[in-house]
Amino acid sequence: MTEGLLTTAYIAASILFILALGGLSNQETARRGNIYGIIGMAIALIATIAGAQVTSYGVVAVCMLIGAVVGIIVASRVQMTAMPELVAILHSLVGLAAVLVGFCNYLDTGHPLTGVEKTIHEVEIYLGVLIGAVTFTGSVIAFGKLSARIGSKPLTLPARHWLNLGLGIICVWLGFVFVGAENPNVGLIALIIMTLIAFLYGVHMVMAIGGADMPVVISMLNSYSGWAAAATGFMLSNDLLIVTGALVGSSGAILSYIMCRAMNRQFLAVIGGGFGTAGGTIADVEGVEQGDVVAISAEETSQLLKDSKNVVIVPGYGMAVAQAQHSVFEITKKLREQGVNVRFGIHPVAGRMPGHMNVLLAEARVPYDIVLEMDEINDDLPDTDVVMVIGANDIVNPSAQTDPASPIAGMPVLEVWKAKTVVVMKRSMATGYAGVQNPLFFEENTRMLFGDAKTSADAISGNI
Ligand code: TAP
Repeated sequence: MTEGLLTTAYIAASILFILALGGLSNQETARRGNIYGIIGMAIALIATIAGAQVTSYGVVAVCMLIGAVVGIIVASRVQMTAMPELVAILHSLVGLAAVLVGFCNYLDTGHPLTGVEKTIHEVEIYLGVLIGAVTFTGSVIAFGKLSARIGSKPLTLPARHWLNLGLGIICVWLGFVFVGAENPNVGLIALIIMTLIAFLYGVHMVMAIGGADMPVVISMLNSYSGWAAAATGFMLSNDLLIVTGALVGSSGAILSYIMCRAMNRQFLAVIGGGFGTAGGTIADVEGVEQGDVVAISAEETSQLLKDSKNVVIVPGYGMAVAQAQHSVFEITKKLREQGVNVRFGIHPVAGRMPGHMNVLLAEARVPYDIVLEMDEINDDLPDTDVVMVIGANDIVNPSAQTDPASPIAGMPVLEVWKAKTVVVMKRSMATGYAGVQNPLFFEENTRMLFGDAKTSADAISGNI
């Protein structure tokens, strides 16, 4: 492939990636966005393989075949609720690739560089390996935490911020040693030590993060993996990789910022790592007695809903676990046919990944115009007859507003307790992801409908 054709293909792929990101920002255009992304990636792969740099097609074909088989098996088996884990482990591969490319590039640059060019190239290698190594181990730990292979409780070593600062200073010093090294072996040793420190930093950074803050960590690691890919692009002088990495890096950073706001965390503290729940511990809810709860049956809930004018449904992680979205839409359709105004209220971090509830509701074909964001629906809740909370917990916890000592203090929540009646559908009195008790369950206007969300939703639907 000629240089001109390659550049044209890279520009086309870059434009398609930008269109993909634009499409993914809205649920109505998300499917189209995905298709743009797939076409862009296909063009990028074909153009790169057909380019002058690739000579051994056999090796590329074998690697692609292995990758494709593993990818197809993993993606077809993954449950929707395990998607964040998959994303985390995929980020770790981007990080590891940046580390390996960095080392290969240092050991064999292809053509010897001198002067400023050599310095710039070494800075690229050093930064690429540094970001890649942090992304690699940070993502592996995030995968472990999300898949419950590692406890979600934050690890808070004494003087951990000083430890992080110390590691950072050593890495900067090693950077000067690496770039200034006359002897390549000295440079290599500096690079190896820095890599080990960065591996350690990635582990420590994510281990110190509490369960409720994990979504921000995932999007932050997404951003890190983008910058690692961009650094790899610089090392390999591949413009498309630089553009793609920068797109992933910046969109991940923007998503982290939006999620920080949704969870009331400081963006800079997140970027620096080492943040977690207040006091660094998950609240001990054992033996917390808050009063009695009032149970309600599915038949009574159906009647309550039929007698209402305005109903808001707040779905959470439990709806995803129970796969209750289709049954919930059945209830919605029947109530709407009877003239009840039914809308959905979606919290930005409901479920276990950004947009989790939107994806499920779209799958059940719930019309987009009745699915509202938290900020759009909160003001209407005092005028709502019934709020049905389906498998949600932390996102409707009033203690986020009332208890400054709560690990979720300051997190914006859906103020469902302001409605006339709240029906909470869950299986038990167990806590949600953040491990904190929820005073909502003990409010006077709250009714608990115990059971699996799908079984309960089917029973409610049967009586409408
Ligand atoms: P949670 O607070 O985790 O609460 C989910 C509730 O669903 C649990 O209390 C559970 O109670 C109930 N449940 C589980 N399975 C059920 C089933 N089959 N039927 C009925 N109920 C069931 O969920 P949420 O309110 O959606 O809040 C999300 C939490 O996850 C936040 O803390 C957020 O920070 C965190 N998080 C979010 C993300 C993103 S990006 N969305 C990623 C990682 C973590 P029972 O066991 O009693 O049934």
